[in-house]
Amino acid sequence: MKDPSFRRSLALFRAFLREQDDPEACYSLLARDAADQVEAYDGPVAGRTVVDVGGGSGHFTEEFRSRGAHAHLFEPDVRELGEKPPEGTVIADGYLLPLSDGVADVTFSSNVLEHVADPQTFLSELIRVTRPGGLIYVSFTNWLSPWGGHEWAPWHYLGAERARARYRRRTGRAAKHALGENLFAVHIGPTLRQVRARDDVRVVSARSRYWPFLAETVVRAPGIREVATWNLLLILRRCPP
Ligand SMILES: C[S@@+](CC[C@H](N)C(=O)[O-])C[C@H]1O[C@@H](n2cnc3c(N)ncnc32)[C@H](O)[C@@H]1O
Repeated sequence: MKDPSFRRSLALFRAFLREQDDPEACYSLLARDAADQVEAYDGPVAGRTVVDVGGGSGHFTEEFRSRGAHAHLFEPDVRELGEKPPEGTVIADGYLLPLSDGVADVTFSSNVLEHVADPQTFLSELIRVTRPGGLIYVSFTNWLSPWGGHEWAPWHYLGAERARARYRRRTGRAAKHALGENLFAVHIGPTLRQVRARDDVRVVSARSRYWPFLAETVVRAPGIREVATWNLLLILRRCPP
């Protein structure tokens, strides 16, 4: 896939800045953008089975459905579901999906990997439910990204506990995320090595999800990639057994 445009990145960045005030606009745009990315690699999703793991509010599932896919949301935390979750939403953990092997044409997971304690087991489950030849879309914000600390970023560079304490002082609210509980320090280098060592998937692309240029190049630079990628997008293809 060629690098997307500067205009697209700017629109995403602006929506992201307004996430708290206008989550609907932010997540609708993000969902359209992610569905475009899936289609850029795999063609139209219409008629395909798409499994959205850890899909939260369901914006991605709804977007895939609006494009004619049979899309299903699997989300373990009812608090993450919006007021009106997509019909048929399944409360399920990504470690153990209530699905047979190889049912999905596309398995989709946006910004979940950094929220699970055992990313490799989580990835194995995404791969298990994907049919041979099917596509797996996994993106995550790595720990050393400027946004790695989520709501307490970029102060995580000074340590998670200090950053959380600062967040509480500044906002008067407890932070949603705590390192080692619901946010984990996932790094790009080890993740890439582990995925490349597998024989059940092929890495089609490893790129920055949001960058308008050098999106694949930045991921090839050890060290620099941990800070500059911002959010890693892995496009994987399930190998035949
Ligand atoms: C930052 S939100 C991302 C939501 C949505 N996918 C998005 O990109 O906007 C992280 C999501 O991961 C989910 N999650 C955490 N642990 C999970 C697990 N073990 N299996 C599946 N989802 C999980 C959370 O419940 C939450 O909905």
